[in-house]
Amino acid sequence: MKHPLLIAAALAVATPALALDGAKLFQEKTCWSCHGKDAKKTLTPTYPKLAGQNAAYAEAQMKDIKSGARNNGQTAAMKGVMGLVNDEEMKAIAVYLSTLK
Ligand code: HEC
Repeated sequence: MKHPLLIAAALAVATPALALDGAKLFQEKTCWSCHGKDAKKTLTPTYPKLAGQNAAYAEAQMKDIKSGARNNGQTAAMKGVMGLVNDEEMKAIAVYLSTLK
């Protein structure tokens, strides 16, 4: 039987908290291709600007679009790339976006 403390320790090692660079992830994970390099100039006028968005809100939207809880004609475009980011990465990107003016 696995010891819960060992499992917790293994998880802590697997997710180095706060070591993630949201700005870099936003470029690497292709987010910029629809939302714009600066998160302002979007690919089409109907795609949302993300610069300055509330971090907790943005993080929740990413999770909901990934899971399908938020689902409409436009979310389908984004859902395809959400397999590229995990929870920690979404959080780091959300914090980065909230710092943009
Ligand atoms: C293929 C285009 C595309 C890509 C790539 C993409 N998105 Fe999106 N994203 C969209 C569209 C379109 C919406 C608006 C969906 C809707 O209308 O509900 C959206 C919505 C969002 C929202 C919610 C905005 C709001 O105000 O509610 C966030 C946050 C977001 N995207 C972050 C990201 C991040 C982070 C990535 C990279 C991991 C990413 N997106 C990649 C197209 C994309």
